[in-house]
Amino acid sequence: MKHISLEHPIFETLSTAATELNVRAFIIGGFVRDKLLGRPCKDIDVVVEGSGIEMAQRVAKMLGQTKQITIFKTYGTAMLKHEDLEIEFVGARKESYRLESRKPLVEDGTLQEDQERRDFTINALAISLNPFTDEIVDPFNGLNDLENGILRTPLHPDQTYSDDPLRMMRAIRFASQLGFEIEKSSLQSIQSNKQRISIVSMERITVELNKIVESPKPSVGFKLLFDTGLLHLIFPEMVALHGVEVIKGKAHKDNFYHTLQVLDNISVNTDNLWLRWAAILHDIAKPATKRFEPEHGWTFHGHEDKGARMVPQIFKRLKLPLNEKMKYVQKLVLLHLRPIVLSKEIVTDSAVRRLLFEAGDDIDDLMTLCQADITSKNEEKVKRYLSNFEVVKVKLKEIEESDKIRNWQPPVTGLDIMETFGLNPGKEVGIIKTAIREAILDGLIPNEFEGAYEFMLKEGAKLNLIPARILQASVSSQNSENI
Ligand code: CTP
Repeated sequence: MKHISLEHPIFETLSTAATELNVRAFIIGGFVRDKLLGRPCKDIDVVVEGSGIEMAQRVAKMLGQTKQITIFKTYGTAMLKHEDLEIEFVGARKESYRLESRKPLVEDGTLQEDQERRDFTINALAISLNPFTDEIVDPFNGLNDLENGILRTPLHPDQTYSDDPLRMMRAIRFASQLGFEIEKSSLQSIQSNKQRISIVSMERITVELNKIVESPKPSVGFKLLFDTGLLHLIFPEMVALHGVEVIKGKAHKDNFYHTLQVLDNISVNTDNLWLRWAAILHDIAKPATKRFEPEHGWTFHGHEDKGARMVPQIFKRLKLPLNEKMKYVQKLVLLHLRPIVLSKEIVTDSAVRRLLFEAGDDIDDLMTLCQADITSKNEEKVKRYLSNFEVVKVKLKEIEESDKIRNWQPPVTGLDIMETFGLNPGKEVGIIKTAIREAILDGLIPNEFEGAYEFMLKEGAKLNLIPARILQASVSSQNSENI
């Protein structure tokens, strides 16, 4: 038996509580697993051969009256927060015991019965609190599986997955997160039981999906989701990227595997979940925009635009947040081709200024996405693109420093225009504002008050407007609204 050390004083407290109540109690599940793997873990699950709630109350009392516990009576569980730890107490069960389980009616059981109702052998490892030992109780050889990197269910996989079909997602999530392999019969069981995922709420599925996205090499999880058929049920838009069509000997690339490559590439450079989602969705509209043009071969015109418009419906179905995170992903999907187009041409200042103007503070993330998107089997091609891409990066930096276009505010505002020409809000103000912005982005005038003001007077004259008064730079700087 393998040993682990539990230095935190909370374990002494837990042990004393169990001894005083004269019940057998164990630390079990993720905490033991993560401790053995050397991963940080702040959630402690305690299983009691008796009442979990009573044990939680006793521990709370020992830690001081102020300690708050949350009790879930229906499920016989209680949760206690202590320092940065979250401790959950549950009575040992004969049935699958999860809070969210579809079968909340459970019978009291022994530790072993409880262990066999858990999802994986590596999550069924337990440490006894009464008596307090540092030995691992491991009836299903979970330690071996942990060492060999194997995900195996304690009971027959059909039983374990039918107890809670979310476990099919959890298996794939752990495989991706820990780099473990799902044991063969378990994988087959997921394949044949995949339809059962329909009884699980989208919110719970997405928690696991996001953990896959956040894993070190997310393609591992997505390939498993695809191969088991789960992806077809939860995220069909991504499955639609799969496959290669050939017409007149011309094939396009498989956009599913390309997307996974981009996702893995970006994951080396960022932990930002939403930037990773932008990588997943950057080509999502390729199937919908695919055309074969005899002169050019395969084209996907407008996929960035259509893709950006698909983002809200995908976020809604996957129960991802419909807030500024979604808008950020949308923006990156919309702009994802722009830096690469730049790197294929002679880079003009004006094109770089326009890109900075549209991307604003997300320019660095856009560049990270774009760099990850450079995938080709042809190494020479990748090298060439990447070196052009460096030119774009340098240019971006130069222009940013000289022109201050990022999060641009007009140097001459709508109010300035109205006051100068004695106008009310209306079409003419808009025409002049746009002309000023375009002239700045094209580099015709500098991004500052004097030049922009002079230009405004000329544009006004074109519209037969006569200045009612002349403004000074200082007046404008007080009117810094952005309209
Ligand atoms: N568990 C289970 N079936 C589930 C969910 C959880 O059997 N569908 C059991 C496992 O023994 C697991 C424990 O409950 O170790 C705690 O679950 P949870 O906190 O959700 O997951 P962890 O395994 O701790 O992993 P993570 O914190 O990474 O989610």
